[in-house]
Amino acid sequence: MTTGQAATARLRCIACGATPDSAGQDFRCTDCGDLLEFVFSEWLHDPQALKCLWRDRKMLLKPLDQSGVWRFREFLPHLSEQHAITLREGNTPLYYLQRCARLTGIESLYAKHQGMNPTASFKDTGMTIAASAARAAGFHWVACASTGNTSASMAAYAARGNMRSLVLIPEGKISWGKLSQSLDYGALTCQLRTDFDGCVRILNELVRQKPVYLLNSVNPYRIEGQKTAAIELLEQLEWEVPDHIIVPGGNLGNSSAIGKALLEMHELKFISSLPKLSIIQAQGANPFYRSVREFGGTKLEPMTADTMATAIRIGNPASWKKALRVLQATGGEVEQVAELEIAEAKAEIGADGIGCEPASAVTLAGLKKLRQRGFVKPGETVILVLTGHLLKDPDFTIKFHRGDLFEGTLQEREAVHTKQLQRAPVVLDASLGAVISALDAAEKIP
Ligand code: F0G
Repeated sequence: MTTGQAATARLRCIACGATPDSAGQDFRCTDCGDLLEFVFSEWLHDPQALKCLWRDRKMLLKPLDQSGVWRFREFLPHLSEQHAITLREGNTPLYYLQRCARLTGIESLYAKHQGMNPTASFKDTGMTIAASAARAAGFHWVACASTGNTSASMAAYAARGNMRSLVLIPEGKISWGKLSQSLDYGALTCQLRTDFDGCVRILNELVRQKPVYLLNSVNPYRIEGQKTAAIELLEQLEWEVPDHIIVPGGNLGNSSAIGKALLEMHELKFISSLPKLSIIQAQGANPFYRSVREFGGTKLEPMTADTMATAIRIGNPASWKKALRVLQATGGEVEQVAELEIAEAKAEIGADGIGCEPASAVTLAGLKKLRQRGFVKPGETVILVLTGHLLKDPDFTIKFHRGDLFEGTLQEREAVHTKQLQRAPVVLDASLGAVISALDAAEKIP
């Protein structure tokens, strides 16, 4: 048994099974054009020994050991230490969701908060690996199309690794928090007059013409890094397998990554059963939901997406076949949720003292539906993967609490319920009496 080396990783096409020695600039199979993934062989590790080693590494001082991604390096493709770029990503908290548990009737309800990463989203776990791969391959420029979080993360890791970064984002459709990150981290930020899917199309053409390294989640190194969220989650649960893991679905890289980790851990006997991995989409950006529900996953029809959860405003998800595979292999479900359901769920996660960005809140909104349908049962353990931090999109939050988000569009019954969740700021005269009156009035609100 060894405990210090990665297994041998090879690239394989998910559709035709071709095993190229290296990937092209667009990370697509040169034979059939589908996506590539890493597969591992020569696995020699003893699960028990690795579980101890991974935990012990947290106590060490080397940056790679302190990273909640690199400390699981036996599960990742090998990259040499000299090229590694780390911001000590991962090691994110698992929170018990007290109020949401009461609200949903799911007593054992937790949030794995990936928004607690260095650039405040789950993207950092994949970016640390993929940006390191770019550096190892000697690239000067890295690039991505993004709804805002990938770009923020990429810009940070590129800067740390002395590379230049090019960001393509849809004009007017990303939050200021995310945009400001890529500016500050020094990216060349291009706001294109199109949507995310339009940005992806242009980037795919660009990488065929210019020596820029593609850092979207079609890059299989991204998926490998993002797997660690699931490994770390199991570690936090003392390797007790939860019944359900619920994730938001946009471009479907994250669900694919978490599912891949679960299947690999199961196959290698780190866990004895599989959690059901369910994927939730916004109703206005639901191509995967429709693919599964209407076509049994046999095809995916791209759509023009629209949702205020701008992170998942995606109509043509690149990794839908990978996501379908893990959905089926784990026995998970797919759901869609409406804009109001997202906003209310976000306020409910906030009221638990945790908070997240709108796209992350689809998990709680989706859980409510899965519970209603009887797919999730009261006694089961459920993990919501919160993908981004509350402060990523303060505009959404402020508009919700001030009552501006759905102004005039809600039915009376909806408006009453929403109002109960709203905590608009109160402007007062600077007097003790005014503050005491406000306190007394608030006391009457549950
Ligand atoms: N949640 C957040 C906060 C996101 O930023 C994204 C994707 C998702 C969920 C969906 O994850 O795409 O792997 O299914 N954001 C990408 C970006 C597309 O460019 O930042 P997915």
